[in-house]
Amino acid sequence: MGDILEVISSRKSIRRFKTDPVPEQMIYKILEAARWAPTGENYQPWRFIVVRNQEARNRIADLAKVGSGSRMTAWYCLGHMQERFEKIEDPVKRAEVLRFMYSGEVSAFARVAPLVIAVLGSLRIGSVDVPYDLSAAIENILLEAHSLGLGGCWVHGPVASSRDAVKFKKILNIPLEMSAYKVIAYVAIGWALEQRRHPRPKLPLEELVYWEEYGKTTRPKLPLDDLVYYEKYGEKEKR
Ligand SMILES: Cc1cc2nc3c(=O)[nH]c(=O)nc-3n(C[C@H](O)[C@H](O)[C@H](O)COP(=O)(O)O)c2cc1C
Repeated sequence: MGDILEVISSRKSIRRFKTDPVPEQMIYKILEAARWAPTGENYQPWRFIVVRNQEARNRIADLAKVGSGSRMTAWYCLGHMQERFEKIEDPVKRAEVLRFMYSGEVSAFARVAPLVIAVLGSLRIGSVDVPYDLSAAIENILLEAHSLGLGGCWVHGPVASSRDAVKFKKILNIPLEMSAYKVIAYVAIGWALEQRRHPRPKLPLEELVYWEEYGKTTRPKLPLDDLVYYEKYGEKEKR
């Protein structure tokens, strides 16, 4: 069995895409990866809508732009946004980045991503784990896309508020009753335009892991049996 840590740890969110389409075979593999995700009691409540139609993607992008724009404008008014980008020294560049953020354009990338996969969960089949199941499927989608050389981004913002979720459902003709489907996100996928050399920094394990009980940060010493070989490499038994 192959170790997929290299795939996992080299993935990063991609939001700028070339216009080239994603080949059918790749779409199939991405969806195949999604359906193999773990799911509570094997309910498999996920449903996926593959959206390539430009008109629908434009409407999704507009929805994302308006929602994100109003949120970020509020942060801008509170000064958080300026703090976040204060490291950019060139004032012209900083102003452009800030405009890109508070205008909401930062979130409008469904327009240029050749493939959008909306991820929705059926609420009718009795699963109590829908958001968790769908999250597992989304991670599989991102990892499979990355392993195929594609880039992608998990997007929750435009369906975060119930009002916007209804608008999103209307775009894709998803039944509107609250009890039918929950849309938890869409994934934008395509060929990366940006060349981010490194994934975003992540907290080191030392800050995240306790050993045996909460608060214990010291890693227990391995027993001698795990450290010593006898006579030759790999030989665990004493002769
Ligand atoms: C639950 C969830 C919701 C997210 N929603 C959005 C979103 O609405 N818009 C967006 O641009 N990125 C979104 N992302 C992507 C995160 O911003 C991204 O994963 C994070 O900044 C870490 O960067 P990385 O994926 O490159 O490691 C979301 C990710 C997760 C897991």
